[in-house]
Amino acid sequence: MATIRRLMEAAEAKLLAAGIDEAAAHAELIAARALGKSRTYARAFGQLEAGAKEEALFNKILAQRLDGRPLAYILGEAEFMGRVLKVSPAVLIPRPETEELTEQAAKKLQMPPRRVLDLCAGSGCIAVSLALLFDGARVVAADISPAALDIARQNAQNLRAAARMEFIETDLFANISGTFDLIISNPPYIAAGDIAALAPDVRHEPRLALDGGPDGLRVLERIAKDGPAYLNAGGLLALETGCGQAEKVVKFFKDTIWQKPQIGRDISGTGRFIFAKRK
Ligand SMILES: C[S@@+](CC[C@H](N)C(=O)[O-])C[C@H]1O[C@@H](n2cnc3c(N)ncnc32)[C@H](O)[C@@H]1O
Repeated sequence: MATIRRLMEAAEAKLLAAGIDEAAAHAELIAARALGKSRTYARAFGQLEAGAKEEALFNKILAQRLDGRPLAYILGEAEFMGRVLKVSPAVLIPRPETEELTEQAAKKLQMPPRRVLDLCAGSGCIAVSLALLFDGARVVAADISPAALDIARQNAQNLRAAARMEFIETDLFANISGTFDLIISNPPYIAAGDIAALAPDVRHEPRLALDGGPDGLRVLERIAKDGPAYLNAGGLLALETGCGQAEKVVKFFKDTIWQKPQIGRDISGTGRFIFAKRK
């Protein structure tokens, strides 16, 4: 039998050799799941021996990861803004840049919003986070995928935000009614022809969550065009875009109903977000 530390070191070496990023963090997360404990426990008690069942589970999860399955799908969970959310292959695995979008959008609001719409909600990571941040707000999570909405609903229930949330199956605004103080969206924005060349992990994610049409901009353009009818005066539209897309997306906001849009940057300084206020 091996110690927890020995298992983690061997796993880290195998993950690194397979070219998998964040190998040390992965090894810790796998150990935590196999032991049924926290990552801190796996780190702190590395000298303890793992039991046979724990070691078998550790090796099973590691094999799946080495086989190319994203760890979040194997574990069924991912972190977003400090909370653990349920994920499945029906939803995109939440990304750090989407945490930045959510934080930057929240900071741009002059007053706590009363109604928020998260369009293309996926796991509900943005919608649930905003419902928890603004406890006076009603938040609509909208997605075209019923399987994604089911995960979003479970996350809202697990994190006790569901009472102030609504879940709507819709093609963008088709089934949305009323107006909002904030519309936020991380829509599909990968050009269809680029999907096959994405990192292997990304290719496990739902095509519906990635495919933004021939140039990647189709959904972003539709949201910019139809958004004003669903925003209150002074309301904010906050969008995530792909790298190199922000300058093109800004051009979708020429209509005089919009104030001058701003490009928001991610932690690496890349323009990734559009913030546009309706007059
Ligand atoms: C990039 S994922 C974002 C998920 C989540 N908001 C996040 O940031 O992790 C895009 C989501 O948009 C949904 N979607 C794609 N086309 C849509 C459409 N026409 N109307 C509504 N939702 C759509 C997909 O099902 C997917 O859940």
